[in-house]
Amino acid sequence: MASTIQKLIQAIQEIINGQIPQSTEIDPDDELGRLAEKFNEMVQVLAQREEQARQQSEKFRQLNRELIQSNQMQTEFLSDVSHELRTPLTAIKSFCDLLLMFGDDDPEVREEFLQNIVESCDRLVGLINELLDGSKIMAGKIEWDTTDIDLIEIIVNSIGVMKAMVKEKDLQIVTQLPIESIMLKGDRDRLIQVLQNLINNAVKFTSEGQITVGVEKLHHQVRVNVSDTGTGITSENHNLIFERFAQVTDPKSGKPPGTGLGLAICRQIIEYHGGKIWVESEGKDKGSTFVFTLPLSESEEPQ
Ligand SMILES: Nc1ncnc2c1ncn2[C@@H]1O[C@H](COP(=O)(O)OP(=O)(O)OP(=O)(O)O)[C@@H](O)[C@H]1O
Ligand SMILES: [Mg+2]
Repeated sequence: MASTIQKLIQAIQEIINGQIPQSTEIDPDDELGRLAEKFNEMVQVLAQREEQARQQSEKFRQLNRELIQSNQMQTEFLSDVSHELRTPLTAIKSFCDLLLMFGDDDPEVREEFLQNIVESCDRLVGLINELLDGSKIMAGKIEWDTTDIDLIEIIVNSIGVMKAMVKEKDLQIVTQLPIESIMLKGDRDRLIQVLQNLINNAVKFTSEGQITVGVEKLHHQVRVNVSDTGTGITSENHNLIFERFAQVTDPKSGKPPGTGLGLAICRQIIEYHGGKIWVESEGKDKGSTFVFTLPLSESEEPQ
């Protein structure tokens, strides 16, 4: 049988080799045995530290991966934004050049050029506002204006604003709403922003069929659905599309218009209100249903 000293030497050699040795057998009554006991304790502490270091380094690796991904997304975003900004700016520059060259010739032509310049300026302002607003919400710097609101009024209002866009694409918009109001505590303008982005997306990604906006009152919460008969979303992208700047690109139609911030902002707004938002879609060309929940005001809850 190996002596306690031999066992200790063997265990130390294992540590030198980068292994954690098995517990050394000891006789707790003699001095060497107590040394071996302490040695065993030390080995356990070493094993714990090694495990902690391994977990820390895995955490850092994960953080690093996330940083690389976020960096890549920001670079892509910057190039998308530059592209979006350049298009109306180039148009403004061209129409200004044309005005300088031919502006005096015909008042009608001048009017048309000026009209084009105004439209491009509006697009620029809209885009910049969306970017600023988005970055404020994402950075948690937004001021919330919480009041008593009627969800049904908000939905009817949002549909009204989007009606022209729906009509332009020859789509139908159908509502399934209760007759009575549904009262909530929330930020009216921000919730309108959520509904408008969901309806806007539904119109953008649907070429024929209909968009349905429905409301269902549940026990302590209300559930809002915005469904479409459009391109659908494959299951591996169901979570991704709620990340900032994430856009699912169809090779046939290329990058969708917009910045890819809409759903990330919707998620921030809904979560601020204590609700959840997600998408249900059976896949490509199967349509999509975006669903969000919001907690009801106490007066609306069943007694
Ligand atoms: N109803 C939908 N049907 C199919 N795909 C959708 C639908 N809604 C969103 N998506 C996918 O999710 C992506 C992200 O949507 P999101 O609203 O965040 O950004 P966006 O509409 O592309 O741009 P933005 O809203 O910033 O103008 C879209 O680019 C699209 O790929
Ligand atoms: Mg959108």
